[in-house]
Amino acid sequence: MKNIKTNSLVKGPIGIFDSGFGGLTILKELVKQIPQYDYIYLGDNARAPYGNRSYQVVTNYTTQCVKALFDLGCNLVILACNTASAKALRTIQQQYLPENFPTKKVLGVLRPTTEIVGNYSKTGNVGILGTSGTISSMSYPIEINHFSPHINVFQQACPMWVPLIENNEHNDNGADYFVKKYLDLLFEQSADIDTIILACTHYPLLIKKIKKYIPAGVKLISQNKIVANSLSNYLYRHPEIEKYCSKNAEIKFYTSDDCLSFDFTANTFFGKKVKSKHLEII
Ligand code: DGL
Repeated sequence: MKNIKTNSLVKGPIGIFDSGFGGLTILKELVKQIPQYDYIYLGDNARAPYGNRSYQVVTNYTTQCVKALFDLGCNLVILACNTASAKALRTIQQQYLPENFPTKKVLGVLRPTTEIVGNYSKTGNVGILGTSGTISSMSYPIEINHFSPHINVFQQACPMWVPLIENNEHNDNGADYFVKKYLDLLFEQSADIDTIILACTHYPLLIKKIKKYIPAGVKLISQNKIVANSLSNYLYRHPEIEKYCSKNAEIKFYTSDDCLSFDFTANTFFGKKVKSKHLEII
């Protein structure tokens, strides 16, 4: 029998999901901009990275994590992960929720970013850096074309960046090789790119190194502020959803892997001490 829940909602935290630590860069900004809400962060660290995985696997893993956040009381979940947003969000919104949780909402990070990218570029040439999954999904060019058809989109997959960050190697000299490599490949496609979207929530941790290898004057856009502005606006425009978001300014962290190693690395991303609990994802 299907798990159909049509009963009325009770207030709950906003769920923030990422395959690993990257979504903490989004949570950090949400807590800054809209601190009154309760948040639950879930990192599926045991199965990260998602970047090279197939549609089916990313959709299954993401759906399981969304369900886990619903079971923890969330009514609204943000996929703070581009790979999950690009590959799994549509299936979750169009099939999983209507069939299983018709009163709950799941939002991604792609749309808020693609909606506004046209405002940034003067040359009309925008670079997208993301995981292999995000880039091969073609979600960015398709969505940007929808909102800003005059923009030329150049994409580059950076498959080594998430593993470098997840392993805390992103500040070391060795990381420079892969940072420069993918940026060179991007600028080989067009020397007129004047705006780069960091289309992976992990990448803000590489900003210092990325700046070393891009031409002066190129704008680097991270998603944390964009997503926080967009969520705050969404909650304002949707009081029927906002009223089911609890407001005690509490944040809880869950990981599908070891809590001690999560807490150690999460501090770097979140900028504050983190104390997580383990959650078995099934
Ligand atoms: N932070 C995720 C994203 O935004 C990383 C994906 C991965 O696990 O490879 O795409």
